[in-house]
Amino acid sequence: MPSLVNMEVELAVKGFLIDQEKMVEVVERMTKELKMGLAKDTHPRAVIKCFVTYVQDLPTGKERGKYLALDLGGTNFRVLLVTLLSQTDIHITSKSYEFPSTLMTGTGKALFDFLAECLAEFCKENAVENDNLPLGFTFSFPLQQQGLSKGILVAWTKGFNCEGVVGKNVVQLLQEAIERRGDIRINTVAVLNDTVGTLMSCAFNHPNCRIGLIVGTGSNACYVEKTVNAECFEGYQTSPKPSMVINCEWGAFGDNGVLEFVRTTYDKVVDKVTPNPGKQTFEKCISGMYMGELVRLVVVEMIGRGAMFVGDSSQRIQQRWSFKSSYISDIESDGPGEYRSCNKVLHELGIIGSQEADKEALRFICEAVSSRSAKLCACGLVTIINKMNINEVVIGIDGSVYRYHPKYHDMLQFHMRKLLKPGVKFELVVSEDGSGRGAALVAATAVQSKPKM
Ligand code: GLC
Repeated sequence: MPSLVNMEVELAVKGFLIDQEKMVEVVERMTKELKMGLAKDTHPRAVIKCFVTYVQDLPTGKERGKYLALDLGGTNFRVLLVTLLSQTDIHITSKSYEFPSTLMTGTGKALFDFLAECLAEFCKENAVENDNLPLGFTFSFPLQQQGLSKGILVAWTKGFNCEGVVGKNVVQLLQEAIERRGDIRINTVAVLNDTVGTLMSCAFNHPNCRIGLIVGTGSNACYVEKTVNAECFEGYQTSPKPSMVINCEWGAFGDNGVLEFVRTTYDKVVDKVTPNPGKQTFEKCISGMYMGELVRLVVVEMIGRGAMFVGDSSQRIQQRWSFKSSYISDIESDGPGEYRSCNKVLHELGIIGSQEADKEALRFICEAVSSRSAKLCACGLVTIINKMNINEVVIGIDGSVYRYHPKYHDMLQFHMRKLLKPGVKFELVVSEDGSGRGAALVAATAVQSKPKM
């Protein structure tokens, strides 16, 4: 334990430090919940929903063609034009649109009109507005799918809360918004979760990829299950296809109280100020949307007790959500005894002239929050790997936390090794452009399988 960190700070972060025994317990509880989500009779009351995605084929590497993709659910909204030319030659043109935060909590109509507007602008810029291109819609929220191109929104997550969308088919809402405009011809052939796009995109180059993971604004995973186990799929006993991708929606794990033993008082405060209190318990312990706020709450408490930043007054750090999760990655990027990135962060927060001990304490708090995140994520992946009962697997991963946190990959790997049965081999691979390439690959499956239906 760093000597510069005082007792008060050590005590405050104690709740974030989960040991091996607790991690084993998390895996055990999560295994139970995952199985409940899959099974037909327990699915309605399960918290980890394990939604059927209707994606039954992993890419063969032979998919070709031109596809549009929409990506909604992270910090940016993007439109993409993806041309699959060969296994090695994929051309992607994309544009990110600034997403007005008022849209996140406005009406559903305003949201879908905005998506259609961006899509129309993008299609015109790329001269494909009349091509009737197939579109894959990456919509990264819990969907109860009824087909590859039909998905009913179950609940909003990650700060979204648009009126009039829960309970509706989001593909239809998008298609109607496109038709209201009448200036582009688009055919939405598939709706998919970002974890599924991540899995597909990674599987295109890594045939052994069977899990897609996101650790970004939100956190979730999908995996390849045996169709016969996907009991909520009407054809689970008759389908000729052996596999079904399952969108776990693991963020909701703990919503029934089974995770209280890893939660802290800070988690409870964060939860209260979100638009969905009591929901997405696991996600709120792991993902980028919440990690910074957790750190901030500890820091503010320490300031209040005179245990950190004594004499430095900062208004900014007192404001909710002012401590971005990217600051955690920055602060932990500094080498031992170095505070270059830390100083930058402190400067941005208006904290000037702090002591080395304060900076050490801040790093210590960041490490406590990020390592709990990585440990819980490791528990989730181990739960899935055990459930799949396989000895070798590639995991495709995307999301800002995994990508930019300097130690996340190593922590994840370390804790997975400690939790997995000996002999189980796994590889953690960054998955490139799941919501573009991945969405195009799912759209390609949809287009190819159409004539047979
Ligand atoms: C939230 C969403 C989920 C998504 C994840 C990562 O948990 O509910 O659908 O996959 O965030 O973006």
